[in-house]
Amino acid sequence: MVFQVLASFITVLAVLQVNRAAVTKRVTCPDGSMTANEACCVLFPVLEDIQQNLFDGGLCGEEAHESLRLTFHDAFGFSPALQAQGQFGGGGADGSVIVFEETEANFAANIGIDEIINAQKPFIARHNITPGDFVQFAGAVGAANCPGAPQLQFMLGRPMPVASSPDGLIPEPFDTVDSIIERFADAGNFTETEIIWLLTAHSIAAADEVDPTIPGTPFDSTPGIFDSQIFIEVQLRGTSFPGTGGNQGEVESPLRGELRLQSDSELARDSRTACEWQAFVDNVPRMQTLFSAAMSTLAVIGQDTSQMVDCSDVIPVPPPPQGTAHIPAGLSNADIEQACATAAFPSLPVDPGPATSVAPVPPA
Ligand code: HEM
Repeated sequence: MVFQVLASFITVLAVLQVNRAAVTKRVTCPDGSMTANEACCVLFPVLEDIQQNLFDGGLCGEEAHESLRLTFHDAFGFSPALQAQGQFGGGGADGSVIVFEETEANFAANIGIDEIINAQKPFIARHNITPGDFVQFAGAVGAANCPGAPQLQFMLGRPMPVASSPDGLIPEPFDTVDSIIERFADAGNFTETEIIWLLTAHSIAAADEVDPTIPGTPFDSTPGIFDSQIFIEVQLRGTSFPGTGGNQGEVESPLRGELRLQSDSELARDSRTACEWQAFVDNVPRMQTLFSAAMSTLAVIGQDTSQMVDCSDVIPVPPPPQGTAHIPAGLSNADIEQACATAAFPSLPVDPGPATSVAPVPPA
C-alpha cells in the first residue's frame, strides 16, 4: 500500500515536471538571455549592438524607419511571373539588396537605399548572421522601437543570396493602383486588402528622395509613433506641397511639412481598397494584428521556412501605443474625403490650437 501511494506520488511529480517543462522550456544563452531555441542565441549580441549603435539607443528614428523599408525592398525582389517565363525572378528576402548592392541600389525604385545598406553592412560583418536574416531582423527590431508597433515575427535561417534581383519589381509611388495590385499579388500572393495591411508601415515613415530639397519629410504628423494618423491624414483633402511640389509620385498634403505619396493617396480612394484603409482609422490593435500577419509573409518571401527557426521572442516587446486618433489642429471632420462606399468615416476629435505643422525626421 505504502509502495502504491509512493508510486502514484512519483507519477504525479513526473507529470508536473513534464508539464512545467512544456510551459517554460527555454534555453539560457551564454550571455544569460533566455529564448525558446538555442539557435536564436546568436541574435542577442546582434540585438544589443544594433540597438546601441544603429538605432541610437533604441530609437524609432530614421534608421529604424529605413531598416523597415529595407525589409520590403529586399523581399519584393521576387517574381514567380518572371520565373514562369523562364527568367530568374530573384531570391526574395535573401539579402541580395546588400550583397548585390552595386546592382540593386541603382534601381530607380531603390533611390536612397544605399544609406541604410551602408549603415547596416558593418554589423553584418562583425556578427555571425547572413545578410538576408540581418535585413529582416533589423527591420523587426527597428519597428519594435516605435510605440504602438507589434512585436513582429522573426524567422532565422536565410541562406546567402545567389544573384541580384531583376529590376522593376519594387513599386514606385507613381505606379497605378492596378499595377501595384498586380505586383503585390505576384511577389507574395498578397490580396488588395493585404496591401493596405502592409502600408501600415507608412505610419513610421518619411521621404528623403521624393522631394530631395526637403529630406526627412514625414508621411503623417507622428512619424515616431506606430499609430493610425497615417490613415486619417491621407484621407484629408490635400491643399499644398511641403516643398517644391510637382515631384513625380507626390500629391498635395493637408499639413505643412507633410508629404503625401500619390500611391497612398490613390489606394485610400480606390473602391477596391478604400474601406480597408478606413477600417484602420481609429483602430491601432487592428493595425498591429494585420501588419504583423502580412509582415510574417513578406519577411520570408522566396525562403524555405521548413529550414528556419522561429526566433520571434528575441524581438523586443514594443512600448505601448501613444495618443488617440484625431484630426490635426486647424482642420475638421469636414476636410475628410470619404471614399469607402459602405461605411461612414468615424467622427474624430479635433486637436485644439493653431494649425499643425510637421517637423522633419532628423538625420541620424
Ligand atoms: C505601394 C507600395 C509602396 C510604395 C509605392 C512605397 C513608396 C515609398 C516611398 C517613395 C518612400 C520614400 C522614400 C524616400 O524618398 O526616402 C517610402 C518610405 C517608406 N516605406 Fe514605402 N512604399 C510602399 C510600400 C511599403 C511597404 C509594404 C512597406 C513595409 C515595410 C514600406 C515601408 C516604408 C517605410 C518604413 C518608409 C520610410 C523610410 C524612411 O523614413 O526613411 N513601404 N515608401
